[in-house]
Amino acid sequence: MANDLALFLRELVLRPHQVVALAPSSEGLAREMAAEVDPHGLPVIELGAGTGRITRAILDRGLPPDRLHAIEMNPEFCARLRDSFPGIHVHGMSAGDLGDLPVARVQSVISGLPLLSMPLALQRAILGGTVAKLTPGGAYVQFTYGPKPPVAKAVREELSLDWSVSDRIWRNLPPARVYRFWATA
Ligand SMILES: C[S@@+](CC[C@H](N)C(=O)[O-])C[C@H]1O[C@@H](n2cnc3c(N)ncnc32)[C@H](O)[C@@H]1O
Repeated sequence: MANDLALFLRELVLRPHQVVALAPSSEGLAREMAAEVDPHGLPVIELGAGTGRITRAILDRGLPPDRLHAIEMNPEFCARLRDSFPGIHVHGMSAGDLGDLPVARVQSVISGLPLLSMPLALQRAILGGTVAKLTPGGAYVQFTYGPKPPVAKAVREELSLDWSVSDRIWRNLPPARVYRFWATA
């Protein structure tokens, strides 16, 4: 755990525009992100898994490791995820290429990505790939620190996304909310 924090902080200094967070997600935030994972359901995709705080919460729900696909573009984080979570699928790639992942249908896509700081074209690719893989009723789960929904309005409208939002989780640095998006069309 201390090693994970050291790695996270080192990568934050080296790649601030990719990591874009002061610290890994708290346990409370990670639990809320994973709260609706059905351990007996379809596979789950996690985006921007980092050092694995949310990964752990997803597995703690009882999902078998081989049904979890973690996408992470940072090779140091990928190596840590493979060490810490034997049996999960770690894909060293950009979440923008999600559509190419050879997984047909998933129950949810759970994202620790810094979505709001990404260009609209990348958001479009990530959410478009997500909607193509989600089973009907499945959700894209995304935390954010700010006051607005973390998916741009243009992308929400193009993909007919509706959403719900959690209470603010104060025990996180900084405090955060969890949004769930689903396609209505
Ligand atoms: C805010 S950190 C979250 C880490 C972890 N999920 C957590 O909650 O503690 C964002 C993570 O997204 C990863 N990331 C950023 N852009 C990405 C992209 N286009 N594709 C895949 N991963 C990306 C970063 O390397 C980093 O691990």
